[in-house]
Amino acid sequence: MIKNKKGIFVTATGTDVGKTYVTALIIKKLRESSVNAGYYKAALSGAYRKAGKLIPGDAEYVATTSGIPLSPEALVSYIYEPAVSPHLAAELEKRPIELQKILSDFHHAATHFDVMIAEGSGGIVCPLRMGNNTIMLTNVIQALQLPVLIVANAELGTINSTVLTAAYAQQQNISVKGIILNQYNCKNLMHRDNKKQIERLTNIPIVACVSQNETNLSVSTETLLNLCNTV
Ligand SMILES: Nc1ncnc2c1ncn2[C@@H]1O[C@H](COP(=O)(O)OP(=O)(O)OP(=O)(O)O)[C@@H](O)[C@H]1O
Ligand SMILES: [Mg+2]
Repeated sequence: MIKNKKGIFVTATGTDVGKTYVTALIIKKLRESSVNAGYYKAALSGAYRKAGKLIPGDAEYVATTSGIPLSPEALVSYIYEPAVSPHLAAELEKRPIELQKILSDFHHAATHFDVMIAEGSGGIVCPLRMGNNTIMLTNVIQALQLPVLIVANAELGTINSTVLTAAYAQQQNISVKGIILNQYNCKNLMHRDNKKQIERLTNIPIVACVSQNETNLSVSTETLLNLCNTV
C-alpha cells in the first residue's frame, strides 16, 4: 500500500501538442522546489534506436530536463519503434499491452518519488489495445485514479479541441483539474481570448500559459501540488 503519494495525469488535445515539453517544465519546477517529483508513461510508440537499444525519447527528455535520477527505460512500461498509435504498434511488434503491468510499473516507479506526473499517449481518445480485452487510455487514467491536466495549443481551433477533450474526460468520470495553454503569446489578442473563452466554457482553470521555448513554468509549486490527487 502506497501512502501519501500525489499525482496527476497529463493529457492533451492531440499528439505533438506539448505534453512532454510541459511535463518536463512541471517536474523541473517541482524538483527545484525540493519536491521529489517523478515521471511515468505507460506506452510510447515512435521510439528511436541507439546502439541497437530502443530509447523512449519522451522519458529521456523529461529526465534530462528535470534532473530525474533514474534511467528513462525505468519510467515507461511499453516502448515501441513504429510511430503509430500504441494499439497498432503493439500489434505490429506482437507485444500486447496489459493493464496489470501498467499498474504495477507505475506503483513501482512511484516508490522512488513523492509526486508522480504521468504522461499520456496522443490525446484523450487513444486505444492501447483493441479487440479482445480492449484498453483505452481512459481506462489507464481511471485505474491509476489520477485527475488530469490538459495541455492545449493556444492557436486557432483550440476552443473546440479543448472543450471536447475536457467534456470527454468528464463523461468518463475523470476529473479535469486544470489546463495549460502551450505556445502562448500574451501579445496575441486571439490567444488571450482563447484563454478567456476556454475558462468560461469549461469552468476549468487555465493554470499556466507556456510560451515558445519557455524554460520556466510560471505557476507556484503550491498550485501544482493542489492539482494532484493523493494516490
Ligand atoms: N513551448 C514550446 N516551445 C518550443 N518547442 C515546443 C514547445 N512545446 C512543444 N514543443 C516542441 O514540439 C514538439 C512536440 O512536443 P511534445 O513532444 O512535448 O508533444 P507531445 O504531446 O508530448 O507528443 P506525443 O503525443 O508524441 O507524446 C517537440 O519537438 C517539442 O520540443
Ligand atoms: Mg510526449
